[in-house]
Amino acid sequence: MLKLSSLILAAGQGTRMKSSYPKVLHQLLDRPMLSYVADAAKRAGSEQIAIVVGFKGEQVISALGDEYHYLWQREQLGTGHAVMMAQELLEQFEGDLLILYGDTPLIREETLRRLVALKREKAAAAAILTTKLENPTGYGRMLRNEAGDIVGIIEDKDANIEQKLITEVNTGVYCFEIKTLLEALKTLSPKNAQGEYYLTDVFQVMAERGLRVVGLITEAAAEVMGPNDRIQLANTEQLLRATINEKWMRLGVTFQDPNFTYIGAEVELAADVTILPGTFLLGKTKVGAGCILGPHTRIVDSEIGENSTVQFSQIIEAKIGAENTVGPFAYLRPGTKSASQVKFGDFVEVKNTTIGNGSKIPHLSYIGDAEIGAGVNIGAGTITCNYDGVNKYRTVIHDDAFIGSNTNLVAPVVVGKGATIGAGSTINNEVPEKALGIARSRQENLLNWVSPRERNLKKRE
Ligand code: UD1
Ligand code: CA
Repeated sequence: MLKLSSLILAAGQGTRMKSSYPKVLHQLLDRPMLSYVADAAKRAGSEQIAIVVGFKGEQVISALGDEYHYLWQREQLGTGHAVMMAQELLEQFEGDLLILYGDTPLIREETLRRLVALKREKAAAAAILTTKLENPTGYGRMLRNEAGDIVGIIEDKDANIEQKLITEVNTGVYCFEIKTLLEALKTLSPKNAQGEYYLTDVFQVMAERGLRVVGLITEAAAEVMGPNDRIQLANTEQLLRATINEKWMRLGVTFQDPNFTYIGAEVELAADVTILPGTFLLGKTKVGAGCILGPHTRIVDSEIGENSTVQFSQIIEAKIGAENTVGPFAYLRPGTKSASQVKFGDFVEVKNTTIGNGSKIPHLSYIGDAEIGAGVNIGAGTITCNYDGVNKYRTVIHDDAFIGSNTNLVAPVVVGKGATIGAGSTINNEVPEKALGIARSRQENLLNWVSPRERNLKKRE
């Protein structure tokens, strides 16, 4: 099988973003633009992916991680120059190479596969993804011969009046035979309106050498949209969201208001999930069938079991079981793990805690670094005192324990199976199985007490 690799150009600044961050790091939903491009390249079957970085390149590298090869282009002298930076690496690659620009986040895996297939079918030296635009201003125009083969690309700034009328434009997505590309790169010169080394000049060279260059025209112009400013960035995100949300609607997910619902590209939803407005499902979140999420809920990198409901709450890096109810106003932090039928009520914060079947934390609690068994009831206002300013300690509460309201559990501490804690207790010693633990001063009643107010009234008489 022929090998495929990808090279993504991401060294430019993107001046129209008016930003101190590189353009390719601006986010769509929860991820930088560039990571969508890299993902599409990966899913299209690239064995190796290299990224050319330049402007604030350290930031790009730290955002994308060590899964990719990085090449530096210290001075941005054009797209052709950017590819030259990859010369040595490309000499070690075989087969075909996809070249993509890092600012076209909506490019799809299927389109890349079609481009590669076309190049191979036609035994061409290169294939270019093009599209037709009503207003092609700013884009490179496709030059074709009578046979319909591509003989060059003329950049907008270099085009004559006649060429400017051409509506078929270069999208900046290419598939090359690597050896031919490397040969053609050697001929580039910056003799043009922008004084840059244009990658697009290689096609004329190839055509002159009698090599075939073919074009694939995509109808979906939106797919090759490259946002240049913040308005286009917002429009691009809107398109991305619509695509993702429509995919889930086709698979049986209900959105009450898809325009006000934000689902990341890596999220997985089962059928019959209902999503109410103002809901963000991000990262690698997975949601089971029958869940009702929202309104106004944010869930990141978490799993939600079947038939659970979450409203007005935040869940981050947690694993929630089936038939749980969360919120309103719960905050479930990393390491929260619940079994089935657990209730997290209002103003409840939980972190690094496992909770067994049917246990309830209905109101106003902070539970951290704890192990809670099944059938446990945590009264309102219960706090695990898990932190002494330096170390964190664990609280263990066994099955069927009943923790009275306003209890402080000073960790490390264990509450035995079926034990009860009297309301208002500060518990810092183990409470044995089935015992009543009570740690508060006894109530005293002073009988026939005359209050200061009554005393005052008497004086006046
Ligand atoms: C480019 C194409 C044009 C096409 C358009 C599609 C060239 C010469 N022109 O123009 O035909 O219609 O894209 O959007 O290729 N980059 C570098 N190093 C550089 C210059 C650019 O890495 O020295 C990167 C940028 O970060 C960006 C990409 O290459 O991701 C494209 O550069 P850009 O300046 O946006 O090219 P356009 O002028 O849009
Ligand atoms: Ca561009």
